Amino acid sequence: METGGLVFSTPELLNPSIDITILNFESIDSTNLEAANQAKRGAKEGLCVVAESQTAGRGRHGRTWISPKNAGLYLSIVLRPAIEIRYLPLLTFAGAIAVYDCLRTNFSLSPDIKWANDVLVGEKKIAGILAETADSEYGMAVVLGIGINLRRNAISPELSETATSIENETGSPPDKQTVLQSLIGEFSSRYAGLHLPNGVEKTCEEWIERSSYANGKEVRATLPDRTISGRTSGITETGALKIETADEGLVIIQAGDVTRIRKNPSVISQD
Ligand code: BTN
Repeated sequence: METGGLVFSTPELLNPSIDITILNFESIDSTNLEAANQAKRGAKEGLCVVAESQTAGRGRHGRTWISPKNAGLYLSIVLRPAIEIRYLPLLTFAGAIAVYDCLRTNFSLSPDIKWANDVLVGEKKIAGILAETADSEYGMAVVLGIGINLRRNAISPELSETATSIENETGSPPDKQTVLQSLIGEFSSRYAGLHLPNGVEKTCEEWIERSSYANGKEVRATLPDRTISGRTSGITETGALKIETADEGLVIIQAGDVTRIRKNPSVISQD
């Protein structure tokens, strides 16, 4: 049920930022789907669909994002970026950086970013990001969906070894509006920054600073056609991950699932 929109300006920022208009729903199939439909009907950049719960929350690679009421923050922002198509993956980098900074600033957590855009705390996943495109007569829009586990009940028992929440990490449930407003402020600033002349380099640098996966991490990557393993060796300017492998030399991956390889041979996956 739609509960109405609320317009507010983001806090003072160094760069000009997008105007955010919030559209709240009590329950919806998926905020990404709703935002994509709104974009196809001409919604302006900055429309942010927020839901208390989702009945068909979408994750990467066709997975489900379980989204119970009063458990997580589920939102999707309509973007109409004025950047080259090859740099679109950096929108998810901007989203991951925004989540990272929001968790650090408001809750003194020490997050990490697993390529490309999972935010972890203590090696467990606390937030995920899904960017999708929506094409229409109004042009191409990107829908950036972000899910953050706020409370313990965001995590089903089978995910308890690999996922966490702000409540798990701090001992108390966070105020959802605080997280929402902080996240939107952080994201609009990063998004504006990406459009500046040196925005691509800066966004990549800031992502690298926050990710232990950027360099020197032993990982296994599941690609559409094969699995590779090796040591991470930076990213390209379009956000692809470079992996130095014993068998194939340097492999550059633009998509795929990456998991850390522990010295002890078992692999821990945060997905
Ligand atoms: C992932 O698999 O890590 C990405 C998860 C993204 C989940 C969010 S919740 C809000 C938005 N709406 C969706 O249906 N998915 C994204």
